[in-house]
Amino acid sequence: MMILILSVVTLFVSGFNACPKCGSFEVPYPLSTSENCGNPKYKIYCINQTLHFKSSSVQGFFYEILSIDPYSNKLIILPPKILENTCYSFDIGFGGLQLDEDLPFNISTRNNVMLFNCSTNILLSPLNCSAKSFCRQFEAVVKEGSGCRNTVCCHFLKDTSMTSHRIRVRVGGCTAYTSVVNLNSGTPIQSWKYGIELQWAPPY
Ligand SMILES: *[C@@H]1O[C@H](CO)[C@@H](O)[C@H](O)[C@H]1NC(C)=O
Ligand SMILES: *[C@@H]1O[C@H](CO)[C@@H](O)[C@H](O)[C@H]1NC(C)=O
Ligand SMILES: *[C@@H]1O[C@H](CO)[C@@H](O)[C@H](O)[C@H]1NC(C)=O
Ligand SMILES: *[C@@H]1O[C@H](CO)[C@@H](O)[C@H](O)[C@H]1NC(C)=O
Repeated sequence: MMILILSVVTLFVSGFNACPKCGSFEVPYPLSTSENCGNPKYKIYCINQTLHFKSSSVQGFFYEILSIDPYSNKLIILPPKILENTCYSFDIGFGGLQLDEDLPFNISTRNNVMLFNCSTNILLSPLNCSAKSFCRQFEAVVKEGSGCRNTVCCHFLKDTSMTSHRIRVRVGGCTAYTSVVNLNSGTPIQSWKYGIELQWAPPY
């Protein structure tokens, strides 16, 4: 009986706490767009009727959220644009994507990250910087990548062997990046799904 009452209360509270829609986007619990709803540790932002994820808690870059999967606790953000005619990502002033270690989000293991204009002293495995790397297709075919032609570029699967809180770009390292979720060698570039998949630990 006690358990039944508790679970009814829990259901009620989490239902009550879900945030209102942002434009046409649902904001599933525990994600939170204001102090009055969701769980404050899962803060996201509703700006211009579009959801955004802010990198680190104080000063941060706002990444547009493309999709949210509340059943697997995952969301996908849009990689920052590369400044036209250059090889600099828009978030280079923030050091790239940097997630707060204190918050429940991390970068999932399904992201194929491409780095551009890299200094040769960072070229360690598991980076694939060969002439067949996915990054070569990106800079050759996609207009946004054209400023990165003839620079050293690499790709890698961001898996458990590396930090799950950061994709670093900086002058003297690599200055631009993009990412494709779940990329296989056979996928034609026209069907690449640009995104950075993040996952969150459920609230307890
Ligand atoms: C919101 O829209 C305004 C006007 O279109 C634009 O200047 C601003 O950059 C947008 N903000 C974000 C975070 O996209
Ligand atoms: C590549 O990075 C270097 C610094 O690491 C910078 O001086 C140069 O302008 C960058 N190249 C492009 C095309 O942005
Ligand atoms: C680099 O990636 C490409 C594309 O997936 C692949 O064909 C090639 O074999 C890889 N090279 C190395 C050295 O792993
Ligand atoms: C990332 O978050 C997921 C979900 O909370 C967790 O299972 C995983 O262990 C985390 N990965 C790392 C490397 O911390």
